[in-house]
Parts: sequence; structure tokens; C-alpha cells
Amino acid sequence: MSGGLHLTVTKCRAFGFILVFIGSIMTVGLSVYFLAVRPNYPAANSCSSPKRPLSQSNFLGGLWSNKSVLVENVIRLPRTVLPRHYDVRLWPILEKGNSTVLGRVTIDVQCLQSTDRIVLHSSDINVDLKSVQVIERGAVEESLFIEGVDYETVTEFLVIRLNVERKVKLAKGTNYTLSMNFVANLTDTSAGFFRSVYIEDGVERYMAVSQMEPTDARRVFPCFDEPNMKAIFTVTLGRHRDMMALSNMPLINTTKMNGMEDFYWDHFAPSLLMSTYLVAFAVANFTKIEADVDNSNWKFNIYVRTSAISQAQYAKVIGPKTQTFYENYFQVPFPLPKQDLMAIPSAFVGAMENWGLLTFGESVLLYDEDVSSLDDRQTVVELVTHELAHQWFGNLVTMDWWTELWLKEGFTSYVECLGADFVDPSLERLQQFVTSGLQTVMRLDALESSHPISILVNHPDEIGELFNDISYKKGAAITRMLASFIGDQSFRDGLTYYLRIHQYGNAVQDDLWNAFDKQAKLDRIFLPTKVKTIMDTWTVKMGFPVITVQRDYMSRNISVTQKRFLIRKSNSTTADTTVYLWWVPLTYTADFETIETNWLADNQSSKNLTLESEIGMNNWIIFNINETGYYRVNYDAHNWKLIAQQLMTNHTVISVINRAQIMNDALNLARAGLLHYETPLNLTKYLEREVEFLPWESTLTALSYLNSMMQRTPGYGLLKNYVMKLLLPLYNSLGFVHRTSDSHLTGKLRRKVVQCICFMGHKDCITRAIESYSQWMADPGNITIVPSVVKGVVACTAIRHGGELEWNFAFKRFRESNVASEKATLLSSLTCTQESWILAKMLEMCLNPAVGFRTQDALDVIKTLAENPIGRFMTFNFVREKWPEMTKIFNSIHSLAHVFESMTKSFNTDMELKELSDFVGKNKELLVSAMTRSTQQSIDRVRSNLSWMRQNYQQVVNWLQQNNPATST
Ligand code: BES
Ligand code: ZN
Repeated sequence: MSGGLHLTVTKCRAFGFILVFIGSIMTVGLSVYFLAVRPNYPAANSCSSPKRPLSQSNFLGGLWSNKSVLVENVIRLPRTVLPRHYDVRLWPILEKGNSTVLGRVTIDVQCLQSTDRIVLHSSDINVDLKSVQVIERGAVEESLFIEGVDYETVTEFLVIRLNVERKVKLAKGTNYTLSMNFVANLTDTSAGFFRSVYIEDGVERYMAVSQMEPTDARRVFPCFDEPNMKAIFTVTLGRHRDMMALSNMPLINTTKMNGMEDFYWDHFAPSLLMSTYLVAFAVANFTKIEADVDNSNWKFNIYVRTSAISQAQYAKVIGPKTQTFYENYFQVPFPLPKQDLMAIPSAFVGAMENWGLLTFGESVLLYDEDVSSLDDRQTVVELVTHELAHQWFGNLVTMDWWTELWLKEGFTSYVECLGADFVDPSLERLQQFVTSGLQTVMRLDALESSHPISILVNHPDEIGELFNDISYKKGAAITRMLASFIGDQSFRDGLTYYLRIHQYGNAVQDDLWNAFDKQAKLDRIFLPTKVKTIMDTWTVKMGFPVITVQRDYMSRNISVTQKRFLIRKSNSTTADTTVYLWWVPLTYTADFETIETNWLADNQSSKNLTLESEIGMNNWIIFNINETGYYRVNYDAHNWKLIAQQLMTNHTVISVINRAQIMNDALNLARAGLLHYETPLNLTKYLEREVEFLPWESTLTALSYLNSMMQRTPGYGLLKNYVMKLLLPLYNSLGFVHRTSDSHLTGKLRRKVVQCICFMGHKDCITRAIESYSQWMADPGNITIVPSVVKGVVACTAIRHGGELEWNFAFKRFRESNVASEKATLLSSLTCTQESWILAKMLEMCLNPAVGFRTQDALDVIKTLAENPIGRFMTFNFVREKWPEMTKIFNSIHSLAHVFESMTKSFNTDMELKELSDFVGKNKELLVSAMTRSTQQSIDRVRSNLSWMRQNYQQVVNWLQQNNPATST
């Protein structure tokens, strides 16, 4: 399509939106028409909702900015008028130099309370004021007299005022039809209706797809954009002959666009009752892959760009299987006639659960068995099972308001593990949750600056910030704890009850607690108090407790107390009146055969519990069986010794998860100053015989703090040699090559071991990695030379110990790869270089997307470079110098906060503290408000690193000297 079109918009009723091409002045004609009637709109708002909670957790954001308090009553829409049905007609213009969506919306509303105005949401949309009509349904087809249409910038409200003088009002109980034409933006930001540009067969291609959650539907069409204002949506999309259009519901028919050669309208079936954030649109030139579904009431399809078809096979197999699993698990059928999964090239990361049209970034949906790694397969399972679980938890029953976001995200993050365990048990997903979910979020939740799961939010900025690890992982961890204390069957039946009662509606967390209470009563499950009372202590208070177990070896009594666990001592002066006590479900054993249970109450008087026992003084006791409880456990010195002895003599008596829990708790307790380092370091000795992934993963994660503190100290050699000695037996038995008999977790363990041991400088490991990489360089087309499971480590090691050639090879592959997950692995390997000039070049490439890295990759590159021991200082210098430029290019404050965090988290000298404070002091005005908090956190963290060094460094070095073999690598 060259040139453009001239556009005429006639004022008609619903569906009367006729677009006429007349030759070649499209853009001009369009803007002239709409600008002429443009009301007072705000400037384009660039800080739209943040995405991707896990890779770029917004944990450091400004949840504390308290905008909620300011806007609490004004930011929510009035409930005088409610939407019942939307007719949305959109035509995204997919041509170079144009970024518009032409639209018309017709909304059937019901008036609940007499009013002289209709208030709905709209943001960055040009409404054709002349086209706005409000017609009483069933009455004469004449619009009520509209006095004016106002736009309120802060609230993103579009206010349609009826004529007060003439006493024009909407009457209670009456239905009206509101309609208008508009032009919205086809953005480049993955928010609202956006354009994704990708290269296929050397040709630049465009597609359009929507991302509404949490509050971007209002950027696409004027709507009542709150999760509890559910309605039915009937969608019509305009597209070119060569494209296809998709929406939540199936296509019912296609009509020619009036006067527009080559353009069509696709009409979709009306939806079920749903929230605006789940509405989805897509227009693309994609290929459809139909999955085999037997005995189902729905069809299941995957949509991908044509050259990626072969990578969709895995999703095609696991998708329908998972959906059937959830139908059985929840005992509620999937209610839509079809489910589409769409892989979006470029720009889009993560995934979104739009009802009936799930969207995924390519790297998390597509999987190439030969090129992608085991972790990539796991990612596909995680995202597919997560988004499919939302079809019930979120889509069918929706949280009443964003404050309860965790209800859908946290619950789903637990339920997805059940789905994954069904669809691909070899992944042992639920078991992995202990390290990847629970222990990960405990690290954050142990900070004084954490926040509760339930938190008041109102302003869109605050809503976006809630998509963080606290909502997801803590939410999932406390859900897992609940499932454990009420039992899996009651948990499942309680959920079914909740879903059936609230389907097509909205719910608050108390509705869920009530459902479980009812079920627990029915199933005669003993609970010390109401589920709500128990769970409120975990959702309303931030943090979690450490349980201290003190045994009296004479009387055999065990005393249990609780106290909030904080990783570092507080400097805070602000008064916090919260009583940090929880309802704690206790589980304990002395043999892993008989498990005892009990409860610690959340009140002062019963916060100490004395348990009677028969356990002899030479037998250990272990609390928090399989770490189902969201807390840490500390013991008296003798019990720690007994546990250490058991690990040394026969560690398999203790469950795999508890081995992981013991190591992680002990190392974190020592870091927090609650335990002498001797205890956890003594425990690590048994690891020479540990062959399971989980205990290794949790120990190495906890040890990484020691690693980062000691990396630039004289004691590092001792630490390195000791850890290498522990890893060596495994390295020797696992090697580099995946065996078909190996489990998924063995594969993950191999990668971890090779990664650590190569990183720590083990000669054999480095030589093998370099050899393998050079063979690949000599034969680039041969994808089997480097086993995919260790591809990242091999590339990273070869680049770290190599030069320009090695780096260039990976860069070329990165550019050319058709597999998104391989691209991500190579991108991260590129940051392993130790050549200062290449590091400098990479930093520069980050600010120059045209020849360097795309903006969304650049932030990851800078963050990873900041963790490279050599790159760290260069990155700090670079960031200091380019800060003004960076704040312009990367307009997400949260992402910049993460760069800042990565860069400074291992600073631990007075000099580094001074440099950091100087930088923050000098750039106050550039470290915009939301960053103030995270920069302050960085300074606090460096201070606490300094104090860790003072208190623990020598202690650790002394222990290592006494226990270190005089080995060399
Ligand atoms: N509902 C979210 C997508 C989302 C995230 C929308 C942030 C708006 C802001 C989706 O269900 C989700 O959680 N996606 C995750 C992946 C998931 C496996 C944790 C993501 O995109 O990272
Ligand atoms: Zn989710």
C-alpha cells in the first residue's frame, strides 16, 4: 500500500463505521479529520504498565509512594452506569510510518443510579467528539443532548456530560447505548494495541497484537477498565487480505470492507462475561497449527510465524493435555469453544492469559529440541501451565480489584506446578518450587523494605508494581502451605466450590478463605482457628518468622518460639506498630516416618509453645517437613550437630527437600547473625556425597553471597578450593554430556556443576569447554557439537578465556539464530568476556539499538555486565557517565533500578560506598522519585555488606583454613 487513504467517518449506529479509501492521502486525511475534533488530551504517556514480574521484578519500585492515599476515592469509576455489552470494531493500520488504530465502540450500559454523566476510561485516544451518542435503548433513535466531553488526565477518565440545564439525565434502571468513533495508537511499547516488527526470510514484517493487563485496554478503546466491570465483548477486526485476525472468540464470518479493495472485516462470536484486561486482538500473517484434541468441547491451536512452525510441536502436545488436566482438577469445564496460543516475535517477553487467546514471547513458547536447552523446555511448560491455569483462576473468577492481584497470580503460580507435574512429571516442577519459588522470595521478604501481599493500590503505576515476586512467589508459597495444612483433597474441593460459586464474577480473598473453611469443616480437618484468621497473618503482614527450636535434653521438652526473620539489622527510625507474629503450622519429625503437627498462635501470650517428646538426646529433630511452611528454622547447637552428623553418616534419611531447606536456612541464619558460620560450613561437608539437584541448588544460591563478598579478597582462593573440592566428585561423574537415562534434574545439576567449576577456574573444565567451542566454531552448522544443556556454560567459558574471535562467533550466531531461547543464551554468554575493550564496545552497543542491542536486550546486557567481576567497574563508570542518556533511552524506572542493584550489590569497601554515595548525591534530580528508594536501598545494602565483612570475613577464612585441602586446580 503506497501513499495512504482519505477517510470519511459517517455518523451511523452500531456497525455504521464506514471507512473509505480514496487514493493516496491517508495519513494527512486521517489526522486532519480527527485533530479537528481532538479534545484536550494529555501527552503520550510513556510510563505504561511494567511487564514481566520475574525477569525484572518491580520489587524496588515505589509501592510506598502512597499515591493510593491521595487518589483513593477519585481514581475508581463511579458505579452509576455499568457496561453490559461492547461492540468493538478496530482496524490497526499496519504500514510503515503509520501507527494508528481506527475504531468504533458501542457500549450497552445500564443505569443503576440516576446521573447526568457517563464516566469511563480512555487514555491516549482521540475521540471524534461529533460521533459521541447516548441513545436510550428501545426508544427513538436520537441521542440525548450531550453538553460536553471532558478528559481527566490523572484519572484517565472520559466524562460524557449530559445537559444539566435541560435536565437531561440517565434514569435508574434504564438501558442506554453509548457509541463513538476514535483513533487510538498502535504503540511500539508492548502496551495496549502494539506493533511487533520482525524479520522473516529477510523481509521486514509487521503484526499487531494487544496487551491490556493491567490498565491498558483504555489505550485501545474507551471502556470501563476495571476488573469487576465485566461485560460481553463482540469484536470486529479490520485486516489486509494477506493477514489473519484473532480475538478471544472464534471467527464467525468475514465481510469485505466497503470501498476498500483487499481489506476485510473479521467478525468474532460474542464473548462470555469477562473483564477488559482479558480482551485480546491480533492481526498477523501467521500459520495455524491445530493440536489433536479428542473428546473435548474445544479446539486448541498454536499460531506462529511460518518459519518457526517446527518449534511449536512441544506446546502443541502439552497445551491441550494441560487444559484437560485443569478441567478435571477444578471440576469445571473450559467454557470457550477454542483456545489459541500465539507466539509473538520480538518486543514481547513473558506471557499473557487473555481468555481464549494466550500470547507468549517466542522464547517462552517455542522450543527446538536440538538447539534449546533443558531449561528452555521447562520455561515453556511453566508459562503454558501458568497461563492455562489463569483460564479458571483469573478469567472465570476474577479478583475484585488489583489489591488482590496475588489471588490470581500467587494461586496460579502454585497451581501451575500441579499442571506441570501432570503434563511433564520428569521436570519435578513442584519440587523445584522450593528453590525457585519459596527460597527465592524469602530472600526478598527478609528485607525490612518488603511489603505485604495484600496492599492497597489504586493508581495505575502502583498496580503495575504489584506484579512482583511477593505477589507471585510468596503468594504461591503460602498457597502451598495452605494446601499442606488442609490437605490436597480439601484444597482441591474447596477450589472447585469457590470457582463454581463465583464463576463469571469477581471475588476477594475472603471468599476463597470461606470456601476452604467450609470444605475443611465438611472434611473434618482440624484447624485451630478460621482459615481467614490464619491466612491474614501471612497476607496482611510482610515478612515471615524464624522458628527457634530449643530442646531440653533432660526433660525431652521442646520449646518453640517465633520472631520476624530479617537478613540485616535495621537502621530504620520509623515506627512500625505491626505485631510480627503469625499463625504458624508446625510439622516435625525425628525419623521422617512419623510426622507430628502443631500450631504456633499469632498472639503474645501463646507465642511460645512447649512440646513434649520422646526423642532421646542422640537423636535429631527436624522442623518444617519438606519446607511446606513459609518460615526458617533455627535449633540449639546440639541439635545442629546431630543433624550434621546424620548428613555425614547417611544423608538420605533426611528428605531431599529438607536437605535443601537445612542448608538454605543455616546459611541464611548465619548471614543474619543468628548462627555462627561454623554451623552451616560444617553442614556443607556432607555435600561431597550429595547427588541431588535441590540441596546443591539451594546451597550454591546461599553460598553465592559469600562468593560475591569474598571474590576480591585474599581469602577467595580458600573458598574456591573448598567449593571445588565439594563439587569435584559430581563433576567427575556427570561430565559434560547428557545421557538419555539422566533425569531432568540431573541435567540441571550437570549444568550447575559445570558452570560453577568452570567459573572457579577448574583447568579440565575450562579446557573441555574451549575445545568444544572451537569445534563448534570450525563447524558452525553442526548443532550437536555442544550439548544444548551446557551450551551457555561452554560459550561463556570460551568467551571468558578467549578473545575477539570467540566473541564475534557468538555474536554472529546470536544475530542469525531463528530460535529465541538460543538467542537469549548467547546474549548472556557475550557478557562473559574479560577483554576490557569488548566490554566497552558492548556497553556502547547498549545505547545504540540501530547497530547494537535492541532496547529490551540492552538492559539485560548492562545488568549482566554489571555482575561480571571486570565489567562491574566499567559498568559503574559507564552508568555514571551516561546516566542522563540512559534515563531517556530506558524509560522504565524499575528496570534502571535493577541495573543499579546489579551494579552495586557486591560493593563492600569504604571506597565503593563513598563513590556510590557521591554519585547519588550529585544526581539527585536525575534519580527521579521512584529511584530514590532503590538508590537508598543500594546504599543500605553496601553498608550491610561492609558490616558483614567486619563481622564474618575472618570467621569464614579461619574455618576454611582449618578445613581446606591444600589442593590446587
Ligand atoms: N498476567 C500475567 C502477565 C502480566 C504480567 C501482565 C505483568 C501485566 C503485567 C501472566 O499471567 C504472567 O504472570 N506472566 C509471567 C509468566 C508467568 C509464568 C509467571 C510473565 O509474563 O513473566
Ligand atoms: Zn500470571
